[in-house]
Amino acid sequence: MPIHALGRYWVLETAHSAYAFGLTPTTGALVHTHWGARLPDVGDYPPALDTQGYASFNGAGHLDCEEYPAHGGGLKYTEPCLKASFADGVRDLWLEFEYADVQGEQLVIALRDHRYKLQVDLVYEVFAEQDIIRRHAIIHNQGSEPVLLERHFSALWHLPYGDAYRLHHLTGRWNDEFEWRTDALTHGVKVLESRRLTTSHHHHPSFWLERGDADEDKGEVWFGTLAWSGNWKLCAEVTDFASTRLAIGINDWDSAWKLAPNERFITPHALAGYSAEGFGGASRRLHAYLRPRLPHPYMPRKVLFNSWEVSLFDVDVDSQKHYAELAAELGVELFVMDDGWFRGRHSDMAGLGDWTPDAHKFPHGLTPLIEHVKGLGMDFGLWVEPEMVNPDSDLYRQHPDWVLHYQGRPRTTARNQLILNLARQDVCDYVYAQMDALLSAHDIAFIKWDMNRNASEVGYGDLLPAPREAREIWVRYVQNLYAVWGKLAQKHPHVVWQSCSGGGGRADYGILAYADQIWVSDNTNPNRRLPMQEHFSHLFPPNIMEAWVTDMGEDYLPLEFRFHVSMIGALGIGANITRWTASERASAKRLIAQYKHMRHLIERGTLYRLRSARQHTESALMLVSPQQDEGVLFVYRTYAPQPNNPSALYLRGLNPEARYHIEGLGTKTGAGWMHTPLSLSLGNFESRLYPIRQV
Ligand code: GLA
Repeated sequence: MPIHALGRYWVLETAHSAYAFGLTPTTGALVHTHWGARLPDVGDYPPALDTQGYASFNGAGHLDCEEYPAHGGGLKYTEPCLKASFADGVRDLWLEFEYADVQGEQLVIALRDHRYKLQVDLVYEVFAEQDIIRRHAIIHNQGSEPVLLERHFSALWHLPYGDAYRLHHLTGRWNDEFEWRTDALTHGVKVLESRRLTTSHHHHPSFWLERGDADEDKGEVWFGTLAWSGNWKLCAEVTDFASTRLAIGINDWDSAWKLAPNERFITPHALAGYSAEGFGGASRRLHAYLRPRLPHPYMPRKVLFNSWEVSLFDVDVDSQKHYAELAAELGVELFVMDDGWFRGRHSDMAGLGDWTPDAHKFPHGLTPLIEHVKGLGMDFGLWVEPEMVNPDSDLYRQHPDWVLHYQGRPRTTARNQLILNLARQDVCDYVYAQMDALLSAHDIAFIKWDMNRNASEVGYGDLLPAPREAREIWVRYVQNLYAVWGKLAQKHPHVVWQSCSGGGGRADYGILAYADQIWVSDNTNPNRRLPMQEHFSHLFPPNIMEAWVTDMGEDYLPLEFRFHVSMIGALGIGANITRWTASERASAKRLIAQYKHMRHLIERGTLYRLRSARQHTESALMLVSPQQDEGVLFVYRTYAPQPNNPSALYLRGLNPEARYHIEGLGTKTGAGWMHTPLSLSLGNFESRLYPIRQV
C-alpha cells in the first residue's frame, strides 16, 4: 500500500523511502514532515505541528515547511511555488486545504483561495519500486475574472530539517556539456535556470543533495529532475531558520500565464527520489523509472553511421551511397544522413525551412539513396531542424512574420538562422505538414531532430496575442513543440527520434516522452567523453546516450579505446571510414559484432560506476543484467605518468553466491569479485572490455 491516508496526514511509501506531510492542527497549513528512509510503522513519522512565528518579523508561514507555498498569506518571505495577480490588483494568495483524494498510486491534495476561487491540485504519484515520487500541480481558475500567474512551479522539496547540504548539479556549455559541480548551500537562495528557450547546455534542471557524507556507493542522497524542455528554474534555499528546500518548475523570468475563467494550467512533472546507496543508487533509480517510459522501451539500439563529421554539408547521392556500402560492411544497421541534404543547403547560410531534397545533390529525390541503403540491409535515418529557418530560404521569403521577433526591432541571427514561432498554430501546422510529408513519402526509420541556437527577441511580431498574455510565448512554444512532435510520433510510430540541440542542449525527461535517444555533445573526443558520459549517466541510462566513434582523438587514442568509450551507450560511427585501413576496418567489424552481442545489457543492464573518470586517470564502469547472470566491465586508462599505482577496483551488483567467469581474470563467486580487489595493469591510453558470465 504505497499511500497511507491517515485523516489529515499522508504518507507516500516506496520500497525504501517515505515522504510524509499533513495539515497543522490549528492553522491547517499543509506542511512537510518526512522525506528519507521508510520507517517500520506509520506512527513513526513525525506529526504535522503548528509553528509559532518569530517576533513581529516572521509569521508561522515563514517557518512552516509548506508543501506548496503561495506568495502572500501573511508574514512569509521564502521562495513561493505560486504567485498570482488578480483582476482587482490583489496579489495575495491564501491557499487552504479543500480535500484529498487517493486513487491507487496517486494522491491529489486540493488547496483553494476561497475569495478568488483559485484551486490548486497537488498531484503526487508514487513509483514504489523505483523509490520515485512524481509531482505536478494543476491550477484551476474557478472565478469569473482572468488570473495572471506570475510563477507556477511544479513542486517544492523539503530536506530533513537543520542539516547543512551540498548541492550537486550539471553545468557546461556547447561542446563541453555535463560537467559535475558541487556547491555547499549556505543561507539564502541559489538559483539555477535556463533563459534560452531550451533546457540548455549550461545548467540542468536536476539536483542531488547530501550532507557531505555521501559517495558513489553509500550515504543518503536526495535527488530529482524536472521533465521540461524550455526555460526552467531551480531555487535551492536555506532559510534563516535552518530549513533547506528546493523549488523547481517553469522559469518565471520573463514569463507569465493568463488563466481565463474555467481554464487550467498543468505544470510539468517534477520527479524526486531518495537513495541510501549514494549517487549510484540515485542513478539506478532514475534509470529504472525512465527505461520503461521511453517511446520504444527496451528496443535494441541499432548501430548507426552518421555522415556529419565526414561530409559536413557536402552530401550527395553518390558519396552517401559509397559511405553506406562501407558502413554496411562493418556491420552498421542504420545509415543516417545528417545536415546538407535539403533545398539550397550548401553551408549553414541557407536552406533551413525548405524540407525537400536538394535537386542538384539528389536529382531523383531521396528514394534512390534510401533503396540503396535498404538493399545493403540497413535502415535509413535523416537529420532535420524543423524549428529553424534561414533568412535565405523560400519559407522565410514567404513568411518573414513566422519567426520569433518584435515588430520594428532587429532580428538576431545565430548560426545564420532564426527560430520559427512555434507558439503560433499556423507555424506548428506547417512544421507538422513538412515533417509528415517527408516521413510519409520515404522509408525513414530514424530522425535526428536538431535545434542549433538559443532564443532572442521572443515576441509574436505584429500578431498581438491580446487578450492573452504576451509572455506566455516561452511556455506555449514548448507545449506546441511537444504537441507537434507527439502528433508525428503517433502517426509514424515506428520512427525512432533523437533529440539534439547542438549536442546536449535539449536533454531532459520532458523530451524523452518523444525521443528515445539523446546526442550528448558535439565533442566526441573520447578523453572528454569519459567524464561527460559518466555525468550524463547520473540522470540517463546508457541506452539513450548516443556515442559515436569519430576521428576526434585519433592522433593519440587507439581505435579500440574509441570504440570502448562508445560501446557503453547507443553505439554509432561518425568517423571518415574511407580513411580506415583494412586492419582498422577488421577491428571495427569485430567490435561492432561484440557490441551487438552485449547490447541487451545497454538496454536493460544495471549501471555501476566503479571508478570516476572525473577523479582518476583510470576509470571503470560495469553493467549487470537484471537477473544478475551476466555483465560487462569497462576499464579505461587515459594518461598517467609512471610509476602509477592504480587504486583497487571492486566489482558491484553481482549475486554474492553465484559464480562468475571473467575471461582473462578467472572464476570466483560474486562475493569474491566484489570483496577482493582487481588489479589490472593498463598502459596509457589502453582500455579493456570484459564480459562477465555466470557459470
Ligand atoms: C549540430 C549537431 C551536429 C550536426 C550539426 C549539423 O551541431 O549537434 O551533430 O548535426 O548540427 O548542422
